[in-house]
Amino acid sequence: MSGHGTPIPMSSAKCGPLTGIANVPGDKSISHRALILGAMAVGETHITGLLEGEDVLDTARAMRAFGAEVTDLGGGAWSVHGVGVGGFAEPENVIDCGNSGTGVRLIMGAMATSPITVTFTGDASLNKRPMARVTDPLALFGAQTVGRAGGRLPMTVVGAANPVPVRYAVPVPSAQVKSAVLLAGLNAPGQTVVIEREATRDHSERMLAGFGAEVSTEVTEEGRVITLTGQPELRPQVIDVPRDPSSAAFPVCAALIVPGSDVLVPNIGLNPTRAGLFATLREMGADLSYENERLEGGEPVADLRARFSPNLKGIEVDPVRAASMIDEYPVLSVVAAFAAGDTVMRGVAELRVKESDRIDAMATGLRANGVEVEDGPDWWIVHGRGHGDVPGGATCASHLDHRIAMSFLILGMAANAPVAVDDGGPIATSFPIFEPLMRDLGAAISRSA
Ligand code: S3P
Repeated sequence: MSGHGTPIPMSSAKCGPLTGIANVPGDKSISHRALILGAMAVGETHITGLLEGEDVLDTARAMRAFGAEVTDLGGGAWSVHGVGVGGFAEPENVIDCGNSGTGVRLIMGAMATSPITVTFTGDASLNKRPMARVTDPLALFGAQTVGRAGGRLPMTVVGAANPVPVRYAVPVPSAQVKSAVLLAGLNAPGQTVVIEREATRDHSERMLAGFGAEVSTEVTEEGRVITLTGQPELRPQVIDVPRDPSSAAFPVCAALIVPGSDVLVPNIGLNPTRAGLFATLREMGADLSYENERLEGGEPVADLRARFSPNLKGIEVDPVRAASMIDEYPVLSVVAAFAAGDTVMRGVAELRVKESDRIDAMATGLRANGVEVEDGPDWWIVHGRGHGDVPGGATCASHLDHRIAMSFLILGMAANAPVAVDDGGPIATSFPIFEPLMRDLGAAISRSA
């Protein structure tokens, strides 16, 4: 239930080298899915390394409201006693998903094929975001929805009493939509098929298989065709959540632009559907290596080592990579400001409907800090100024968006004058230890009145 508190103005300033080890929190996408699938299994799922950010805590609260027993065992360990596929109870009150698009969209999918009625709401950011992308396919299962104009929250979903399976081609590259359809398919008889033209993060498919569902993916001319057999009995699991590459992006990018830095970010999940940023940074000339590469729980994992990279160059980012780094464009645009030449980012219309319009939020703040940016509906270009030549000095609006707030604080660590954000509060949604972690590495971050 983020975004309800008083704003927390923050700023960052130039600092000495960033050095040391950055233990970033658990993966947000995997944490949501572990709680939701745990709640849909029969018996006790045990989770370690859960991200205890507000987004995920809102999902934990929601799962309790649907009848699952969700217990915080301390130190990132949680247990979930699930109620089984089709076993959700009707919540007694409105489900508040706070800031989390992933939370609300996945939970809507999970309940849409049960005969219960649920009203969803969120904070000012979430209540602006489009939900039709999820309610359209859920209607095909037989669910009904009533929301505000433009398909916005608050919204009531009447789950289908007699759901039918669905074959659905996802019109936008979105793992949330794909996952909502798969979760709805769990309680429909027969086979539900989701087709995606561009590969998006595949944590749902992997975890569904782990819980014992029959799910297969075929790569065809249409794209990735994912087939799920409905009404399985999900078996509870032991899940160790890997650390979040999207959170790792912040200390990694900071190390690349702050002179003298050398930072190790251990145990980062490098699922290919998530690792596009790191490939892009290497193309820009980043001194970024993967150490101790290994497989853990079927997912590729490595320790990332990032060192100051004085000769970064702008590049044209391959649009094919967009889905695999969609959450990382804001912080990439900060690195691009310190690179020589232009960084061109195309095929990124989805950035306009995230927690904020991320192209607009970053372009406005970068311009205020002396960096030239051009933008259009689905593209933007950052005109890099090169190392040592980014003025800084401005206050930026974070628009209730954690990644915008963190990106501008990273900018301030290497700009010539400090950079402020109007509200760092949203950082707690995904990376609650951002501030102490960055400070331990040597960053100068402060809270201002
Ligand atoms: C997520 C999918 C992405 C991403 C979000 C997490 C997920 O959203 O931006 O932070 O866990 O499925 P879209 O599905 O809207 O692309």
